[in-house]
Amino acid sequence: MNRQVAGVRGVAALLPAECAPWAAVEERLRALMEVYGFREIRLPIIERTELYARAVGEATDIVEKEMYTFLDRNGDSLSLRPEGTAGCVRAGIEGGLFHNQTQRLWYQGAMFRHERPQKGRYRQFHQWGVEAYGMSGAAIEAELIALGARILRELGVNARLLVNSLGTPACRERYRDALVDHLKAHRDRLDEDSVRRLDRNPLRVLDSKNPAMREILDAAPAIADHWSTESRAHFADLTGHLRALGVAFEVAPRLVRGLDYYTHTVFEWVADETLAQATIAAGGRYDGLVTELGGAATAAVGFAIGMERLMGLVTRPPQVLGLGVYVMTPAALQGRALALAEALRDRGVRVEVHLAAASAKSQGKRARESGARCLVEAVDEEGVVILAAGATQGDTVSWTDAVARISEILGAEAKIDDE
Ligand code: HAM
Repeated sequence: MNRQVAGVRGVAALLPAECAPWAAVEERLRALMEVYGFREIRLPIIERTELYARAVGEATDIVEKEMYTFLDRNGDSLSLRPEGTAGCVRAGIEGGLFHNQTQRLWYQGAMFRHERPQKGRYRQFHQWGVEAYGMSGAAIEAELIALGARILRELGVNARLLVNSLGTPACRERYRDALVDHLKAHRDRLDEDSVRRLDRNPLRVLDSKNPAMREILDAAPAIADHWSTESRAHFADLTGHLRALGVAFEVAPRLVRGLDYYTHTVFEWVADETLAQATIAAGGRYDGLVTELGGAATAAVGFAIGMERLMGLVTRPPQVLGLGVYVMTPAALQGRALALAEALRDRGVRVEVHLAAASAKSQGKRARESGARCLVEAVDEEGVVILAAGATQGDTVSWTDAVARISEILGAEAKIDDE
């Protein structure tokens, strides 16, 4: 045998057993996007590296050390997308989506970050993102958050919603200075990572998971003390809307997020468990990004769900069309079996026909394991035996009567679309 080629670390295929629940959740998410009036946008997987440097920020972990960046044959520096927001804004500017318009957009797909892989953290992972443009008030934030909360609630995912405000860039600047003063006063007790961040991106020091840093960070100033009147009013509006909608939240004064483009509201859903990678979905307002990337000033807010993390926490999967019929057949009757399957599919029934060479016994085993609600065995040119799942006695019927009889059995428990 030849040597196998290993997959890339942190980059996994979704095998058929996983695809089915993913597809069911994706289908439900698509439906919810429609219900909320969001339209799909399909974004490229590669962009110019400069896009992320300018949007996500030079001094962020993503741009500093996590991007898959390469020179293409023209010598242009390109990167695999580490997230979707920057590309969405870039495509929106080029496509003329923002000028004097509001937009509600969604996208989904693979993102790439060269992080240390572990459970819930991959180098290729999938996001489901929603972005809204042209709306500057807190109401759209509340609507997005209500959408996120609905998704998690429907799927039975237990998570806390954390909200904070980073204020305007001016508030953030003042806060940055106060934070740096505080951290410098304890410089000798900062860990190596924090010292590095202190110069490059001091707000990120607040994200340290090192317990030794806890005391210093708990004593750090809060951004709320540096909010302008406008920032304070905006945040009060948001919390007011959330209360009115009955969306539970916690104010997290030290939530800052790892991307530079945020202003005002930021939020995250964190799984209740003490998972290492507990953040399921996250986002916030990013009013400055469209101008930063060369467009006209446009209010913007959005969030993205980490699909792998979401899928790991679903306790109420959406109902999917289960296997209705499994057809067992000897090779000589495969043609008839296929015709029967097509006739059933015309009626919306999910059918699988056993087409691999196998003994009747092993076909029977496979059929029982399939979970189909009705098993059909092709006997001869005359007809089939139909057995409802769980029944011991089968019915012998002609090929012509088979569709009607099967529909009858399935109709007793499932809705078959007869139209
Ligand atoms: P983010 O917090 O970097 O935000 O990522 C959003 C979500 O993607 C995370 O909460 C997490 O569930 C998932 N995620 C991130 N990295 C990984 C990884 N290595 N493996 C598995 N899952 C991961 C953004 O990307 C922003 N673009 C969100 C946003 C949209 N803000 C405004 N609009």
